[in-house]
Amino acid sequence: MAINWYPGHMHKAKKEIREVIPKMDLIIEVLDARLPFSSENPMVASLRKDTPCIKILNKSDLADPAVTQQWVDNINRTSGMKAIAVNLKQPDKIRSILAMAPAMVPERNLEVSQLKAIILGIPNVGKSTTINILASRTVAKTGNEPAVTKQQQRIKLPNNIVLLDTPGFLWPKLEPEDCGYRLAISGAIKNTVIEFEDVAMYLAEFMMQHYPDALLQRYQLKDIPQTGIELFDRIGQRRGCMRRGGIADTHKVAEILINEFRDGQLGRITLETPEMITAQLQAMEAAKVAREADKTEK
Ligand code: G4P
Repeated sequence: MAINWYPGHMHKAKKEIREVIPKMDLIIEVLDARLPFSSENPMVASLRKDTPCIKILNKSDLADPAVTQQWVDNINRTSGMKAIAVNLKQPDKIRSILAMAPAMVPERNLEVSQLKAIILGIPNVGKSTTINILASRTVAKTGNEPAVTKQQQRIKLPNNIVLLDTPGFLWPKLEPEDCGYRLAISGAIKNTVIEFEDVAMYLAEFMMQHYPDALLQRYQLKDIPQTGIELFDRIGQRRGCMRRGGIADTHKVAEILINEFRDGQLGRITLETPEMITAQLQAMEAAKVAREADKTEK
């Protein structure tokens, strides 16, 4: 899926983050619990080195709890990393990060010096909401449109922690391709730059394979059809979105599916598991090796 969305301020943010990360004691990355891999920023992995990192799996109220646990366990196995699954209805759990942070930087004596942490997160992941809860006041502008927070700012938190907030940004290349679809489904990519019907078809096929019961229940279907197109037709019939000739209005059905996913009306759904990601990365690597072998043969 081609996404042509890489505004200038995001390029600037990327440069700033590259400069600032080495000066930090701690990295806090806010992820979407429904897509913890796709909502990660690859720069964190490459720039982190030994810096401790807290991964906040936010919007856990919308994610599949069993898969969230798999992700938490998976991240906790990485040295210097801790994961915590939270949502905005659990402010105390979010504030527990204020105690978790100093424990991850034990060499820093907080009575004499500050703990410098950077908070990162792609647009719409809930970073502003998290910051406001951590600071117990409205600090950053929160909103639905990706990248509303545009200026870097330093926020004083309890326990002598200073939080550096940066503008939300996405990376230009979304690999494997599935990541782009998942980000689009979640609302991290502006609706105006995605192919709505294409994205909804990805979601339809994913739901048919992984959460068929949620579809049966939500759209009161007797069974799961063979193809995504048939599913679109069935939802169209149920919701009165049919065109003349008995064909579903695919744009309307796409809107229904995506909006109901985003609002949690389809149930608690996670779009990727650690196992799926391992398989997709292996497939990507194998394709790369095959391409290179092909080139050498020619
Ligand atoms: P950002 O800074 O990362 O861009 O995200 P922000 O905090 O602005 O949150 C983006 C949207 O996600 C907001 O919805 C916010 O309420 C919602 N959100 C944040 N955390 C959670 C969570 O844990 N669970 C759920 N279900 N939603 C969450 P909005 O529609 O833009 O605003 P509003 O209707 O809440 O005012």
